[in-house]
Amino acid sequence: MKQIKHFVGVSVLVVIMTAAIGLGLQTAMQTGHLFPELASRQGVYIDWLFGIHFWAIAFLFSLIAGFMLYTIVVFRQKKGEQKDGAHFEGHTGLEIMWTILPLIAVVYFAYVGGYSLSNVLAVNPTAMRVNVTGRQWSWSFDYPEYGITSDVLVLPANNQALLRLRAVDVIHSFWVPEFRVKQDLLPGGLVRDLRVTPTLVGDYKVRCAELCGQNHALMEAGVIVLSRADFDQWVQQKIAEDPCLIDDVVGCGQKLAKDNGCLACHSVDGTKIIGPTWLGVFGKEEALSDGTVVTVDEAYILESIREPGLKIVDGFQNLMPVTAGQNLTDDQIQNIIEFIKTLK
Ligand code: CUA
Repeated sequence: MKQIKHFVGVSVLVVIMTAAIGLGLQTAMQTGHLFPELASRQGVYIDWLFGIHFWAIAFLFSLIAGFMLYTIVVFRQKKGEQKDGAHFEGHTGLEIMWTILPLIAVVYFAYVGGYSLSNVLAVNPTAMRVNVTGRQWSWSFDYPEYGITSDVLVLPANNQALLRLRAVDVIHSFWVPEFRVKQDLLPGGLVRDLRVTPTLVGDYKVRCAELCGQNHALMEAGVIVLSRADFDQWVQQKIAEDPCLIDDVVGCGQKLAKDNGCLACHSVDGTKIIGPTWLGVFGKEEALSDGTVVTVDEAYILESIREPGLKIVDGFQNLMPVTAGQNLTDDQIQNIIEFIKTLK
């Protein structure tokens, strides 16, 4: 009889603790204290999984801590009590229970995991394709269906986007916390797919979630989710504004420099970032790390883009990936040179 009393007592304690911790975690999740606002359809399944796990965590914590607390308080050594506790050896019923219950739990979690994964990966054949390129240390976004390139990821709401991820140098990771999903970008011509259906118009940020070198922490780009009409308008505006389509050589060079990530390391206002500033660099005599001096002309700039490690300006390290300019044609580099010439 006495044992039943203890069993009921500790069960009530575990139930109360589970309810308190579980509700606390659910409330923290729903009020945005654990995660930022949910903004994608895929994220619904991720948050659902988190919700289930929070209840499991609350129960397991309470089971262990509840029994421990109860034991410490109820079975503590009474005043004057000297003898050892009762000795007992195993309990077959308990053994069977704590084998079968975890087995059921594991099978259940395998089911909910598989169910949510299949929903997160669900393919919508009308998805809009965006080629995402990550490099040390910037992002660019190509829209092959529209022929436009952007350094901000703009997406229409309630429309699945098929992001085709590629890295030019080292491993990076595409992560928009509000979308909940995350995917690594791999170098070596490997393309990884990620599907996102944004549900909430707003401004977000993609950040790199894989340590990728000196400026990893600064590797961010804007993500803007627009209504369908606003998105179409943005596309039209991008096309109309593209200097490379209207023979604006300098404007095209500036756009190429931005889209290819050059400006993440080379400032145009004299600030020293990772590489030499482009302000006033054309025609300048630069002292090199090997003690020689070079005049910055078209040939030197072309060579430095093609083979960045060849002639390093004194006071700088060779941090520019050799792949930085591999997507650029000589004509495109010429445009960038024309842009650099204007920076005086
Ligand atoms: Cu790219 Cu960290």
